[in-house]
Amino acid sequence: MELQYDLGVLGGGQLARMTIQAAQRMGLRCLSIDPGKSTPASQVSPAIVGPLADPQALAAVFSQCARVTLENEFVPASSIAKAIQMSGRDEGALIPTLDALATIQDKLTQRQRLHEAGVPTPRAVALQDDGAAAVSKIGFPMVLKARFGGYDGKGTRYARTPDELEQHRVLWSGGGWMAEDFVPFMRELAVMVWVTAKGEVGCFPTMETVQVNHVCDLVFPSESDGSKVAMAAALAMGGVGLFGVELFEAEDGAISVNEIAPRPHNTGHYSLDWGGVSQFEQHVRVVFGLEPAPVDGTPTAMANLLGQERVGDWRRGLVAAIAGDPGVHVHWYGKSEARPGRKMGHLNVAGLDASDRAKAARERFYAAWAGVPA
Ligand SMILES: Nc1ncnc2c1ncn2[C@@H]1O[C@H](COP(=O)(O)OP(=O)(O)OP(=O)(O)O)[C@@H](O)[C@H]1O
Ligand SMILES: [Mg+2]
Repeated sequence: MELQYDLGVLGGGQLARMTIQAAQRMGLRCLSIDPGKSTPASQVSPAIVGPLADPQALAAVFSQCARVTLENEFVPASSIAKAIQMSGRDEGALIPTLDALATIQDKLTQRQRLHEAGVPTPRAVALQDDGAAAVSKIGFPMVLKARFGGYDGKGTRYARTPDELEQHRVLWSGGGWMAEDFVPFMRELAVMVWVTAKGEVGCFPTMETVQVNHVCDLVFPSESDGSKVAMAAALAMGGVGLFGVELFEAEDGAISVNEIAPRPHNTGHYSLDWGGVSQFEQHVRVVFGLEPAPVDGTPTAMANLLGQERVGDWRRGLVAAIAGDPGVHVHWYGKSEARPGRKMGHLNVAGLDASDRAKAARERFYAAWAGVPA
């Protein structure tokens, strides 16, 4: 069967856009699907407008694309399974695999799979009924998490006391939440791991990530090495493709897994400007069974550019960021609305003092974007 497209991406945000751009450089024809009409991905290649949980809409992607990958783990695996059936395709068309997606998209089964594989990760139990099981098994302080669909900390709460657990009852009593150990981490790390169809595994360098208000703020090369735990975590999911593995590092250096994303990840954006292969190209290579590229580059830092209360023309920000340091690379995603806190773009700086220069460039960007003289 001659298919019109090589790569389909479920979702049309910035991760889809940058994956498609990497694929296009390799001559591949790409299609995305998203409920939004003008998305970051639809600006760079053909796109279907449709609901991501609707098997029929998803089937249109499977029937036109040789391989289908995703930019977030929220598309229900059951909808994708139906779509694959409806389009008469083989399950192998989906990267990372249906089973890996289903395991990861429920944060509780993800934790269970890690425990079974002996990969260090917080203990977690379903939060249900009166919460007594969570109190006896996890105790306080505990972290409450939505099992499905959380991002940028939107499904994460802390309960230090029984009172606080009670205050959050309106959230969790409806079901779909879990409780887990609070990890008193010293820092957070992230590693991009790839797993090929042959089961070969490799990874990018370990990065340190700093979250502000639960949103990733800054990413820079770490002195710690999380690669062993990260690769074990990705392998435990049993899938194929690129995995973003978020890690905790304790005071004593012990590393445990926070969570896994079966796709390119915000913490891997530095690789667009580090001089070596990018996470997006590596993902595309693995998706199409091509040899993964060696990973080597200049230490690079990444700062996210978030929507602000007061914004003008973003291009003023771009000019200000670059004017003060020609080594700054600004990436803008083309989102139509700059809601406060929303990831609108990011900037990368390679080389000496990369983190400080990235932070300074972001300050210049924000000041000029708001219309305040830099
Ligand atoms: N068990 C825990 N102990 C301590 N802090 C935690 C724990 N789980 C999460 N956090 C903190 O909350 C942040 C967000 O949690 P998590 O990554 O699970 O949620 P998310 O909404 O999927 O986030 P994102 O989309 O930013 O990756 C983590 O980066 C970490 O700073
Ligand atoms: Mg996270």
